[in-house]
Amino acid sequence: MKRIAVYPGTFDPATNGHLDLVERGRRHFDELIIALLRNEDKEPMFTVEQRMRFLEEAVSTWANVSVESFEGLLVDYAARVGASVILRGVRAVSDFEYELQMALMNRRLSPGIETVFLMPSEAYSYLSSRLVREVARLGGNLDGLVPEGVARALAERAAGPGKLPGATRRRSRA
Ligand code: PNS
Repeated sequence: MKRIAVYPGTFDPATNGHLDLVERGRRHFDELIIALLRNEDKEPMFTVEQRMRFLEEAVSTWANVSVESFEGLLVDYAARVGASVILRGVRAVSDFEYELQMALMNRRLSPGIETVFLMPSEAYSYLSSRLVREVARLGGNLDGLVPEGVARALAERAAGPGKLPGATRRRSRA
């Protein structure tokens, strides 16, 4: 039987920490599906389609990795695609409580699906999508921390009208 794992998340945007985890995870499963949550409640920096494209570009050379999106309960989605494992990354102790709650709730909802945790490289242990968004908004350097497509899109946003740091101040003076 094929061992299929889903790696769920918001990926707004994908970071090299996510890719590191995919690279590690894909060695242990026949198929690894990156499952991007379509969540209308959150106000993402990038659309679902953009986020999927960044991931698709970044994993295109890994034959057993694919990218999909899902709505509703993760365990229902996992069952639909025949996955027996939910893959999640744990960077530090601070991640643990949230991850444990989700893993135990998912196990209660669907006892046959196991959550497996992997640790990304220590080089990315501090890296998160939230920090990437913040540093990008403030014009900081993200070299080596995000996939190429994400870096390009962030640079385009920064160069766009009204997106440069200080643009509001310049406009109000005019
Ligand atoms: O990248 P994130 O935001 O930490 O990922 C969170 C995600 C998408 C894994 C989680 O919010 C999720 O699984 N949402 C789907 C809805 C669901 O199943 N909720 C119950 C989980 S305990």
